[in-house]
Amino acid sequence: MRSSNQMWGGRFSAGPDAIMEAINASIGFDKRLAAQDIAGSRAHAAMLAATGIVSDSDAKAIREGLLTVLSEIEAGEFAFSTALEDIHMNVEARLKDIIGDPAGRLHTGRSRNDQVATDFRLWVRDQLDMAEAALVRLLQACLAQAEAGADWVMPGFTHLQTAQPVTWGHHMMAYVEMFGRDLSRVRDARARMNECPLGAAALAGTGFPIDRHMTARDLGFDRPMSNSLDAVSARDFALEFLSVASISAMHLSRLAEELVIWSSAQFRFVTLSDRFSTGSSIMPQKKNPDAAELIRAKIGRIFGANVALMMVMKGLPLAYSKDMQEDKEQVFDASDNWLLALAAMEGMVRDMTANVPVLEAAAASGFSTATDLADWLVRETGLPFREAHHVTGALVALAEEKGCDLPDLSLEEMQAVHADMTDDVFDVLGVHNSVASRTSLGGTAPVRVREQIARWKEVLG
Ligand code: ARG
Repeated sequence: MRSSNQMWGGRFSAGPDAIMEAINASIGFDKRLAAQDIAGSRAHAAMLAATGIVSDSDAKAIREGLLTVLSEIEAGEFAFSTALEDIHMNVEARLKDIIGDPAGRLHTGRSRNDQVATDFRLWVRDQLDMAEAALVRLLQACLAQAEAGADWVMPGFTHLQTAQPVTWGHHMMAYVEMFGRDLSRVRDARARMNECPLGAAALAGTGFPIDRHMTARDLGFDRPMSNSLDAVSARDFALEFLSVASISAMHLSRLAEELVIWSSAQFRFVTLSDRFSTGSSIMPQKKNPDAAELIRAKIGRIFGANVALMMVMKGLPLAYSKDMQEDKEQVFDASDNWLLALAAMEGMVRDMTANVPVLEAAAASGFSTATDLADWLVRETGLPFREAHHVTGALVALAEEKGCDLPDLSLEEMQAVHADMTDDVFDVLGVHNSVASRTSLGGTAPVRVREQIARWKEVLG
């Protein structure tokens, strides 16, 4: 018969079935919380000594012993045990091996419930900090592209049909706005989640005279959480992390989709670098945008994690339930993949080369300046916009029939459609004039785009 658990087995005469152990243990994944677990325990031990709950010498032995455990884990020398269930009990059991009896005083005035909530918050906070740095690097890569091509023209699309010419810089800056909001969501989430659950104990707090402000401060939290039931059972910080990651991954996926389209032989808008492309094992001519495709796919697992954890949490009564152990793998996987996608996108954006002549030729095709023509009719001949729209439509139909673009029609041909047409109209049919004219706030004119680039450079420092 298996022996009962050395941490909680006092009332048990038999150990768990192997299947019970398999479903119960979390050490296979929560070992990733080792550094946070040890930091939390060291802060707790220091507080227990400062408040006179344990002796200074016991606290010192505990704090030093925990550092030894950490170095064993970091060196890959630690023997993790499934029988000890999770990272918390693995660490404490090893501490006992190293320092003996004082180890038994570490768990005074706390529970694994506040312990795991603290560890997990610390871990998620680190990921938010990494995501923040990764987003800043990605923003800088997009800004560099925008700056290089503030006045390169390209087609702007709606319905993926040529709509109006825009500038490359404007298009890049649209992503700067999106990733900028992702960055602000990361910062908001961090500010909201940075409260310390430690000291909530199992659920009701403790009778020991603990100092929760001290542990909160030591661990870099802004304050202790105010309600012990909430402290041990809240996982909205993890859900907010997953929501922020999902929205950001969705933005990454949209840009990834554009890179897939743009790098195709049919578009040739951009050339991706060899460093971020792959070849085909059968078709020698191929250069595939695999990184972009994988970034496009990552949203699936990240959003899936968000939905999965939402489902885990939605029916749980207060306070802790073991269901909540299912929070970690989802967040670990989502975070790993989000950070990887951010880094891969940064690399692709930095390295890609826009094919400026191809962009310009594409910008000029598809009657992309038809709106400029209609606007010109309104401005110069006083035609109401609806009528101008109609006249322009007739001119587009004529060009289409002749198999040419709008600027290729002669003035006589235009005047046959509408008598008020003059030579001046040709000025607005060019794509450079078209983008330069769109100077409204937020518009695609290079002068506006450069203002936005300058503003963002200042924001990012
Ligand atoms: N491994 C557990 C988890 O991840 C730690 C908390 C266990 N608490 C308990 N009361 N059994 O949620």
